[in-house]
Amino acid sequence: MKIKLANGKTIPMEMYKVRIVQKTTLPPVARRLEAIKEAGYNTFLLKTRDIFLDMLTDSGTNAMSDNQLAAMMVSDDAYAGSESFYKLASAVKDVLGFDYTAPVHQGRAAEHLLAKIFVKPGDAVIMNYHFTTTKAHFVLAGATVLELCRDETFNTQSTDPFKGNMDLTKVRNAIKKYGAKKIPFIRMEATTNLVGGQPFSLENLREVRKVCDEFGIPLCFDGSLISENAYFIKTREKGYADKSIGEIIKEMMATVDIFYLSGRKSSSVRGGLMAVNKKEYYDRILDWLPVYEGFATYGGMSTKEVEAMAVGLREMCDTNVAGASPDLIEYFVNRLLETGIPVVTPAGGLACHVDARRFVPHIPQSEYPAGALAAAIYVTSGVRSMERGTISNDRDEKGNEVYADLELARLAVPRRVYSVSHVEYITDRLGWLYKHRELVKGLKFVQEPKVLRFFFGKLDALDNWALKLGKAFEADFGKEF
Ligand code: F0G
Repeated sequence: MKIKLANGKTIPMEMYKVRIVQKTTLPPVARRLEAIKEAGYNTFLLKTRDIFLDMLTDSGTNAMSDNQLAAMMVSDDAYAGSESFYKLASAVKDVLGFDYTAPVHQGRAAEHLLAKIFVKPGDAVIMNYHFTTTKAHFVLAGATVLELCRDETFNTQSTDPFKGNMDLTKVRNAIKKYGAKKIPFIRMEATTNLVGGQPFSLENLREVRKVCDEFGIPLCFDGSLISENAYFIKTREKGYADKSIGEIIKEMMATVDIFYLSGRKSSSVRGGLMAVNKKEYYDRILDWLPVYEGFATYGGMSTKEVEAMAVGLREMCDTNVAGASPDLIEYFVNRLLETGIPVVTPAGGLACHVDARRFVPHIPQSEYPAGALAAAIYVTSGVRSMERGTISNDRDEKGNEVYADLELARLAVPRRVYSVSHVEYITDRLGWLYKHRELVKGLKFVQEPKVLRFFFGKLDALDNWALKLGKAFEADFGKEF
């Protein structure tokens, strides 16, 4: 919820109280320099003990509710026919409207099954934009991934409220080019992660549905951040202000043939699921579910998480739960803009995204500006962000770099975990870093995996820039911070 103060300012208000906490420490800059070097300048390889605020991701890192924790205590650990599953299936039916639910261990497991069941070599999968694991699964299945959002999506200084929208002209042209038979489904990702957690509108989703109907192509919906997308529809799309999050989700779901999500985001648990209404689709999922995930009533998840997911799906329909992260992100984005820091606008659904192309314009894409910026943010603040740029793209078959459309350092805002003072701290440190941005130089790979290289790849800082940055920081703030 946003609260208006007497001075006219608006602040995000936490509509919950904190009753279990986890201690954090702020390692001094000298240790941060060692830690980032040990991690090969890859924030994925840092250890929790070296991190102050962990803004790597909002995935599986959210604060759970009291009711979720309580539900975990009464889970039914039956291998087959678990009561916990039936609670989940009933939440899926009530919240999302699907008759068939298949739990999976997390979102990418659903993508693996989708690829196995629906995608053939030579196919073209249309989507508003890819997510890393999504693309990896479909490409490994021999398909081409077509990202058909509008050009405005890549404008990092936009005021467009729905940068996750699909470009229908591009979709029609792609169907003409490849033929409907080669397109196993059209995928919409709510909210669209790699372009800054940007939502799509219900109007656009309905237009996509019309095209699907016209050509007999199924619509696949990645609902990992479904409640946040619904919150943006409520707060940004004409005609939805008075609708509840639950009603908006139902309207979205009326367009969908194949639904899946990573439960680690909107529903604040560690797991995932697929859901459909067509029995034929469910039967095809069931062919593979026990092979790769587990029996149909747990699908690779712990039954504790199955219970918590059932609760989480219902709780995400509360406007204050759906809006908790977007409201804090909006505040974060506004504070960075006030400080003059280049950041993706409008504020999106899972993180505040710093635009590395504008922050460190002197670093060419071949030297990974977003990766360098993520490492520099850690050195100056102890805050762990994530590179979402060229390092997050793998090389093509010929070994050439695939330069990313956007070079972003993503500061994720896990739900109900961080507060306004945390945002003030990182805003201050980013302000300092921006003034010293010339000290930040590029990175080069020293160890480069072939697939999803961003996870385990190791790099080195060109000209040992991190050390010079750390020294400048120490001169201003002392050895303690
Ligand atoms: N789809 C979307 C839109 C996602 O954001 C993610 C994960 C997945 C699928 C895969 O789900 O991790 O449960 O296997 N996003 C995380 C992130 C990892 O940090 O943005 P998963």
